[in-house]
Amino acid sequence: MSDAAVVCGLGGALPETVVSNDELAATLDTSDEWIRTRTGIERRHVIKPGEATSDLAVEAGRRALESARAQDGTAPDDIDLVVLATSTPDHPCPATAPLVAERLGLGGVAAFDISAVCTGFVYALAAAASMLSAGTARRALVIGADTFSTILDPCDRTTRAIFGDGAGAVVLRTGHAGEPGELLGFDLGSDGAGAEMITVRAGGSRQRSTGLAAPDGDQWFSMQGRAVFTEAVLNMSKSAQALIGRVGWAGEGPDRVVAHQANVRILRAVGDQLGLSAEQIVVNLDRVGNTVAGSIPLALADAVATGGLRPGHRVLLTGFGGGLTWGSTALIWPELATVPTHIHA
Ligand code: ACO
Repeated sequence: MSDAAVVCGLGGALPETVVSNDELAATLDTSDEWIRTRTGIERRHVIKPGEATSDLAVEAGRRALESARAQDGTAPDDIDLVVLATSTPDHPCPATAPLVAERLGLGGVAAFDISAVCTGFVYALAAAASMLSAGTARRALVIGADTFSTILDPCDRTTRAIFGDGAGAVVLRTGHAGEPGELLGFDLGSDGAGAEMITVRAGGSRQRSTGLAAPDGDQWFSMQGRAVFTEAVLNMSKSAQALIGRVGWAGEGPDRVVAHQANVRILRAVGDQLGLSAEQIVVNLDRVGNTVAGSIPLALADAVATGGLRPGHRVLLTGFGGGLTWGSTALIWPELATVPTHIHA
């Protein structure tokens, strides 16, 4: 590993349509009170029919590129790698990243998808940073984008209350060890024994799509909420603690934790495990819900926009999701010239 991978641009994108808890409660057996109390979520954004994950990925990527251009003059020609974390690709085959690269006018760059559900963005950062450090690429656009509204059972209150559509992206460049924005290390893990906890059973090679609705609603996303809750707290806390030790922050700890935004009670529990105050745990799920691979970069963009995250902060990112998978990384937050807003009025 020669060069460091340094964050030099950030952007997020949300679809225009907002669905409040009350709007969900109009057609499902749920209530604003239940959703707020049990999850902390107040509203979420969803795409319109005809829109797809690449539309959000392109928009988030465009904003991250704008941020990087303002930062250090990054031009589209400088990007030689696009990594897209998503579990809701436009099509089962091929990957969505090449299409996103083409729509952003990035030429014939290397482009591939990563599938690690809610941990996808951390895995994508690790893959891109490793390729930068190895000299395989010089400047990467790393996007997390998902549209879970397209795979949720319309009648399932447990999942529809939680998920929203969204995307976030960063630009990584090669740099020097010690620079603000350097990704300082990674902790990544998985446990395939828990694969059934978070799954879409049908539509893959095990249970093939026949063109007819799958039996038992197997074409829809399903999650064992309570078990996932416990695993999320356990694995994000353990992964974060492992990384804190690895990057030498055991004494002072992180200033801010940007964890996968699934449930505010999970975020509080992780904060307690790490001995952090509420102010140190970034929360934006109240406005966007769980946006899966888009969650961490969207929370970063929100935290910068609202002043919760400032240059010089020791920031720890940690995610947990289907697979099961988990992962963490850390950086000193850099001064970014601009982070284009994705927040709709
Ligand atoms: N409105 C009203 N009642 C509901 C709703 C709803 N939206 N959802 C569930 N309930 C009901 C259940 O049916 C159940 O009723 P019952 O007791 O009559 O059976 C009751 O509320 C309690 O259900 P629990 O599942 O125990 O509720 P819990 O407090 O655990 O909250 C939730 C459920 C929000 C899903 C929570 O478990 C959670 O956040 N889990 C973790 C999600 C997560 O971390 N995901 C990250 C990974 S996801 C990925 O990788 C794609």
